[in-house]
Amino acid sequence: MNRKYLGYLFEVAWILPSVAVPIAFLVAIVITAFAVGIAVPGNVGRVDPKALNTTAPFDQPGLRELAPGRYEAVVIAQLFNFTPGELEIPAGSRVTFIVSSRDVIHGFKIEKSPINMMVVPGQISRMTTTFDTPGEYYIYCHEYCGAGHHLMVGKLIVTPAQTASTSR
Ligand code: CUA
Repeated sequence: MNRKYLGYLFEVAWILPSVAVPIAFLVAIVITAFAVGIAVPGNVGRVDPKALNTTAPFDQPGLRELAPGRYEAVVIAQLFNFTPGELEIPAGSRVTFIVSSRDVIHGFKIEKSPINMMVVPGQISRMTTTFDTPGEYYIYCHEYCGAGHHLMVGKLIVTPAQTASTSR
């Protein structure tokens, strides 16, 4: 091959990835945002972290069934645990997690699910997903929050869905 064309080939070999790689990143972001449902926590609300005990919905942390198979889980993150520390739902449930912190920045990540949020004092983090597979899912604090950070673990238990014959 002529030297001139070889140089041209090298140019193209560098230019193509420099265009293709950012496009691949963009496509990955669009797919995760719209198809997989992974999102950064939006500014869904503010709350006084010192007054969580008297501010709805954090004055009553826990799981609430809004409709059959539709739940809302209000969780408070604090040094070094989650309140409540354990949640139990039947498989197939769609759960909206509403989380805030009482003290410092924590994380709220449920393994094997798209739920992955920062929990910032003063802000409300909210995300929804469906749990189809029964099992135990650990909830991790993945923001370093102090000496007990590694102990800050909660649990979500997804029980096998009831069949029509056993439910009522
Ligand atoms: Cu809470 Cu790390």
